[in-house]
Amino acid sequence: MTADPLEIYLEAGDLERGLRDDVRAGLSAGQKWLPPKWFYDARGSELFEEITRLPEYYPTRAERAVLAERAPAIAALTRAKTLIELGSGSSEKTRLLLDAFARHGGLGTFVPLDVSVSALTSSTAQIAADYPRLRVRGIVGDFTRQLDRLPTGGRRLVAFLGGTIGNLLPAERSGFLTAMRGALEVGDWLLLGTDLVKDPAVIVPAYDDAAGVTAEFNRNVLRVINRELGADFDPEAFAHVARWDPAHEWIEMRLRATRSMRVRVLDLTVDFAAGEELRTEVSAKFRPAGIAQELATAGFTTAEFWTDPDGLFGVTLARAR
Ligand code: AVJ
Repeated sequence: MTADPLEIYLEAGDLERGLRDDVRAGLSAGQKWLPPKWFYDARGSELFEEITRLPEYYPTRAERAVLAERAPAIAALTRAKTLIELGSGSSEKTRLLLDAFARHGGLGTFVPLDVSVSALTSSTAQIAADYPRLRVRGIVGDFTRQLDRLPTGGRRLVAFLGGTIGNLLPAERSGFLTAMRGALEVGDWLLLGTDLVKDPAVIVPAYDDAAGVTAEFNRNVLRVINRELGADFDPEAFAHVARWDPAHEWIEMRLRATRSMRVRVLDLTVDFAAGEELRTEVSAKFRPAGIAQELATAGFTTAEFWTDPDGLFGVTLARAR
């Protein structure tokens, strides 16, 4: 079967307006910042896929190990009719779930949701071709905003993998989990991937690889802004920084101006002092007790918590109560 046409909840105009609002807010702040979702144009999505194959970037491999071991249990416990994947990207690890559901029977519809049209176009086509009995409904959308538009009916399993929930700041995260619970019915399921707190000597290289792929991914946000908003950033004049924040237990990616610069974007004139840093991403790391607590507060009961054999990455199966 071919995939259904993409359902577009996020039009090009919405995307550009969102980018403009974020650039205006983030670049006029005292501590400059940009939200990580703007990394993912076609090139950024490719760079991210390349990151997932780097020797230093353990989260993808660790999460894949968990899913490879536990997918049969996930299918058997949830007996879901509809699998919704938020921030689906290439949906590469999700195939482990689809394979388990195929053996189990019963899953009728797969709904990947992502901001990246390019990633969704190829992932939905490939999955529809490889799983001919599955209805594949790709949704172009922002997972923090389109929760009220998720398909209803049947037992649902929402997968939010990769540790992407770590991109949300704590207040955004609790708002998101509460909204997620509000979008679900009692008995629906949530499968949540979370990178775990560990020695920063393991975490930092995952965000500052020797080959410089993450640095290119980081600078890509400036290329997106140049292209979409006609800005005149010189991406090469920004150095990649990955820093562990022990108080918040998160990694921050930043872009450090290597010289003083004046950038024009929209109607703004943005001055960077030499050495000034622009925060481009927060990637929070979690502790098992904290995850269960946050889920409980939002109205979920944790059914299972699994890690890979090295204890690097956690996957929680929780149920709306
Ligand atoms: C896609 C958000 C899970 O935080 O590890 C990878 C993005 N940033 N390298 C992460 C990312 C730098 C990634 N997530």
